Parts: sequence; structure tokens; C-alpha cells
Amino acid sequence: MTADKNAPVGVFDSGLGGLTVVREIMRNLPDESLVYFGDTARVPYGNKSKDTIIRYSGQIIRFLQEQNVKAIVVACNTASALALDTVEKEIDLPILGVVRPGAGMAIRTTRNKRIGVIATEGTIRSGLYHELICAEDPEISVFEKACPLFVPLVEEGWNKDPVTEEVARRYLKELLENDIDTLIMGCTHYPLLRTLLKRVVGEKVTLVNPAYETAQALKQLLEKRNLFHEPVSVGEEAGRYRYFASDSIEHFKDFANRILPYDIVQAEQVAIEKY
Ligand code: DGL
Repeated sequence: MTADKNAPVGVFDSGLGGLTVVREIMRNLPDESLVYFGDTARVPYGNKSKDTIIRYSGQIIRFLQEQNVKAIVVACNTASALALDTVEKEIDLPILGVVRPGAGMAIRTTRNKRIGVIATEGTIRSGLYHELICAEDPEISVFEKACPLFVPLVEEGWNKDPVTEEVARRYLKELLENDIDTLIMGCTHYPLLRTLLKRVVGEKVTLVNPAYETAQALKQLLEKRNLFHEPVSVGEEAGRYRYFASDSIEHFKDFANRILPYDIVQAEQVAIEKY
């Protein structure tokens, strides 16, 4: 069966952070329709086991398949690192995660071959960023640091708070001492701390945002499979984006409206455990 090119792209995350990936897809692929699922009832994924993340991801993929999506983006670093290689074998749809595009960009960016990675505990434990980078260029040294406090700080809206900056200085101290020139923001929430992180790492270090790279990877994937959506008229944007969450959608809507270019029109709660 050939996929319908005008079908939506499914995007999912453990919660709200994946909206940073949605934002990049909207900017870079403005004709595409999207169905977003945020697992707000079960967030965070960052400290959960691999088996749990695989089970959650499988349920969400089944839900997205029911929405007739033409492709899936795993907009969560932790799920990309721990579950993507398992779930991709079980479905017949193009699917991509955020880790591979982010790792690729960091390899192209570094000059001194010293890359830092900040992410959740699960992503760091998986070692996937390290593995992908060193498989491509074994001369690169990778320095990793789990930053578990960043997600709750961003969810609280403390993106510019001095407390968050102090936390960032502590987390990044060791990486900076290792003379990195490139830093992967390997968690969906971290691009929302970009300004603060830039202040902490200084001019010498380039920040890599896997969300942006993932939108570019999606573009290539859709092009290769001849799956680009037909051009749509300006003004039709907001109606083509549908949002689902596993917990109440009120907080979801507030957060989303702060970071997305279009206000949310359609959002619904889903009982994801039944999938
Ligand atoms: N979305 C997760 C990630 O990118 C961060 C939040 C969580 O721990 O669930 O790794």
C-alpha cells in the first residue's frame, strides 16, 4: 500500500519537550500536517528502565498508527536512545529519532574533536551518542553529563532564572574543563535553555540542537520517499496540527502556546494505557 502524502506526520515525546521538535518541523516543513502525542501522565522517561520506555513507545506508536500517520518522529532523546531500535522493527512506517541527526551535526561541527553531550540519565546510560559519534570518527572524544534537574526547571518556566544558571555552571564545569568545542543539547527541553547555556559555555563552544537537525532529517526522508505534503495556503496553519496528551491538557496548552508559533486549536486527552 502506498502511503498518502497528505497524511500527517506523527510526533511523540514523553511530555512537552518534544514541542521544540514540532516547532522546528513547522518552521522547516510548513506544508506538513502534524499529530503530536505528549505522554504527560508518565513523564519523565529520563529515569525509567529500557523495558518501560519500549512498552510506552509501542503504545504511542499504535495510537499514532490509528491516526493514519505517514511517518513517525520520536521527538524524545530518551525514547530514541532506548526504544527506537526495537520499535522500528515492529512497524511498517518510516520512523526516525533525534539522536542520530544530533550526533551527525556534532561530528560535522567539532574542530578539536572534543564533543560534550548533556541529556537525561537514560540517554547517557544508553551510550548511544557516544557510540554513533565514535563509530563515525574514532578520534573524537565524547564527554557526557546527565543533567536531571534541567527538565523540572524548564517545566517550571525557570528558563532564565539565576538558580538554573548556577545549576548549569555546576553541570557543565567538567565538560568545559575537558576543552569541548561542541555541546549537544541531548534532551528535548534543553533548547529552551539555549540563551542561558550559551552564556555558561561561552563563545568558543557551539551548541547543537538535535531538534533542528531532526527536522532536516525528516525533510530528507519525506523527499526520498516522495511523501511531501502538497503545498497549503497561508492562514491554514493552526487547523492542521492536532495535539494529544495522556494527562489533562490544560498545562499542556499553556506550555505549548508559549513556545509554538501557532496557538493550539485541537487538543485531547488520550487513555494511552489501552493501546
Ligand atoms: N523528552 C525527554 C528527552 O528528550 C526529557 C524529559 C523526560 O525525562 O521524559 O530525553
